[in-house]
Amino acid sequence: MKKEKILLKNGSVVSGEGTFERDLLIENGKIVEGVEVKGAKVIDCAGKLILPGLIDVHVHFREPGASYKEDWTTGSSAAVASGVTTVCDMPNNTPPTTTVENLEKKRALIKGKTYCNYGLYIGYDGKNLAEIKKAKNIAGVKVYVANSTGNMGVDNEALEKLFKEFDGRIVTHAEDEGIIEKNSKEFLAEFEGREIDPAVHSKIRSVEAAESAVKMVCGLAKESKAKLHVAHVSCDAEVEVIAKHKEFGVTCEVAPHHLLLSDDDYSVWKNFIKVNPPVRSRLDVFSMWKNLKFGVIDMIATDHAPHTIEEKEQSYEKVPSGVPELDTLLPIFLNTVNDEGMTIEELVGYLCEKPAQIFGIKNKGYLKEGYDADIVVVDMDLEKKVERANLCTKCGWSPYEGSNFKGWPVMTFVGGEL
Ligand code: NCD
Ligand code: ZN
Repeated sequence: MKKEKILLKNGSVVSGEGTFERDLLIENGKIVEGVEVKGAKVIDCAGKLILPGLIDVHVHFREPGASYKEDWTTGSSAAVASGVTTVCDMPNNTPPTTTVENLEKKRALIKGKTYCNYGLYIGYDGKNLAEIKKAKNIAGVKVYVANSTGNMGVDNEALEKLFKEFDGRIVTHAEDEGIIEKNSKEFLAEFEGREIDPAVHSKIRSVEAAESAVKMVCGLAKESKAKLHVAHVSCDAEVEVIAKHKEFGVTCEVAPHHLLLSDDDYSVWKNFIKVNPPVRSRLDVFSMWKNLKFGVIDMIATDHAPHTIEEKEQSYEKVPSGVPELDTLLPIFLNTVNDEGMTIEELVGYLCEKPAQIFGIKNKGYLKEGYDADIVVVDMDLEKKVERANLCTKCGWSPYEGSNFKGWPVMTFVGGEL
């Protein structure tokens, strides 16, 4: 079907290189130049910024197996409401996406249900290397160095084998299971017979646990020349290790909660902000901003991990880890731009261009001639509170409820369609 021809008029188009007043013509889902604008539907974007659609390389959309928390319709709604036009979905489903068969079944169930583009990861369970090598058109391989939601942790021997034998992109959840287990015994004993304080989570899944696992995977990447991307970095010690391995091609992402929340927030949010890796000290939060600015951290990715309010209200041992992030992603960082914490060009680098470059996503991340018309129009002056009633995620809550953000997306186009 031929898609509508659209002219975005009088807006300012943003790329990593600068912001320029420019009209943008969309035809057949692509950005075109030198084409007759007659007959195009004109949308006035005066006073608005026009950004490439955001690419989020780390989401958990919960299908198959837990669609009561999120499904592809609600998850992709939360994405496009936040200007995200492409997501890469993690494999910790039930059943896990660790075989080609499950991968293809997942693709089939997504069909017709998603508002945004997507890529899928295949998971590594320590035994499925042959399946991984057969898998086509994947975002990468996800490997859990420690157990998290889905209990997909693998041992060191299996990890080495993957780095040696697989030549695609490896994305790691890097925390050291041994250290976590030892800390669990030690710190949980203190709560014998009384309610466990959620803040213990940051002590159990300690900075040392992250640092130790990142050292190991970076060492493996250096040795094997594998393409390593470290998911959700959270602390200074971990990023310091990565800084020393940038020359071997190691890349990494930071999640909004590791930039906005700290262990001070347990007093308000309790187990709602139980997440892996956990929220850290304010010093670590500061380090994340600094390392993003200086390019050690390549990009922002949400690790959008919805769990229901009922699940989050349970006691510490029972509460699943993870926080929803998609609905609020763009407002958070547009607000940062308004506060002069980053430039709009840097934002486009972290959320559009870098993910496209590093994950090799063709025709996305930039608003260039011939590229896909994945576009978000933003109003930098619009001020709104994050309210539960306005969220699209099925889990129905956000750790930023009540926050007032200045700068919101007002229109999202996916493949030229509003
Ligand atoms: C994730 C989830 O809920 O799927 N939870 C989390 O705390 N980040 C799993 C994960 O990626 O660790
Ligand atoms: Zn995750």
